[in-house]
Amino acid sequence: MSHIESVRLTDEQTLVILDQTLLPGETTYNTLRTKEDVFNAIVALQVRGAPAIGIAAAYGAYVELARHSYASVDDLTRYFYEVKAYLAASRPTAVNLVWALERLEQVVVQSWSSVEELLLALREEAEEIRREDARVCEAIGRHALALLPHDAGILTHCNAGGIATAKYGTALAPLFLGKEAGYSFRVYADETRPLLQGARLTAWELQQADIDVTLICDNMSSIVMQQGKVDAILVGCDRVAANGDTANKIGTSGLAIIAKHYGIPFYVCAPTSTIDVACLTGAEIEIEERNGAEITDTWYEKPMAPAGVKTYNPAFDVTDHSLITAIITENGVLYPDENGQFEVRQHVEV
Ligand code: MRU
Repeated sequence: MSHIESVRLTDEQTLVILDQTLLPGETTYNTLRTKEDVFNAIVALQVRGAPAIGIAAAYGAYVELARHSYASVDDLTRYFYEVKAYLAASRPTAVNLVWALERLEQVVVQSWSSVEELLLALREEAEEIRREDARVCEAIGRHALALLPHDAGILTHCNAGGIATAKYGTALAPLFLGKEAGYSFRVYADETRPLLQGARLTAWELQQADIDVTLICDNMSSIVMQQGKVDAILVGCDRVAANGDTANKIGTSGLAIIAKHYGIPFYVCAPTSTIDVACLTGAEIEIEERNGAEITDTWYEKPMAPAGVKTYNPAFDVTDHSLITAIITENGVLYPDENGQFEVRQHVEV
């Protein structure tokens, strides 16, 4: 498959990201040099999607650490914790962000004889997080593909594609792999209000890959399911709780409820980096609330709503585990037990 890289570390110790807010009209790459650059790019969703945020945070921490000098390893270690706390606060829901920074922390806590040696090890760990994510996404794609008929109608929400990860995506990975293997999927992409990740990013990525994609508004998902156009729903996720409750882009839980009504399988594609076993149920997942202007002012030159109207703009919702047919990780497909309970572990055994 042709591959568009959304996050890259350069030899000049900078981070280059594809600005996802400008797609599909413009393919612009931004160079990030400081922790503030990285923080702002994550908040603005220039880099977005749970795994891509994790990669950007790991690279971003390294880039920030590498641009200063230190009197000692202890000095560098102290600054690492400051940078970690700063970047971890950029977005609250996707656990991959903290997970990636904790991977770097595991490196920092080892014993190092020089600042240079530690910096090199941090760079290598950040690179490994990216390489690993590409392998993980490919494995998710292979497991998911095995569940799908050759000519399946698929509905997806938001964007869990290649640009939201290192490569392949999670929910879109089986579609890219299926294309290579001669499958002829028909994909329905929800536009995904308010920021249109489905319209701007998923429809664009699938078109680029020459996969049959039809864009629908969010409120059309019930009719396409009712009309028998959808054989399976595939979504990504931002955090999976220990009981299988799953946070993903706002609107996902509604889709799962409708899918249950029509008896359509609802699959959550989840790298184990998105699993948070410390979080017992979905009720403990922090839901990011974003600026109401995203609802009232974003897509026309003039405001789209009356001035001063109250807004509520949660960026994610939690899908109850009882609505999920299976969670597909790089290690395989996890189904609920006979009581409808998931037992999710970091290294899910299936
Ligand atoms: O707010 P976003 O665009 O970062 O939300 C992204 C999603 O909800 C994705 O489905 C999720 O992060 C999985 S990306 C593989």
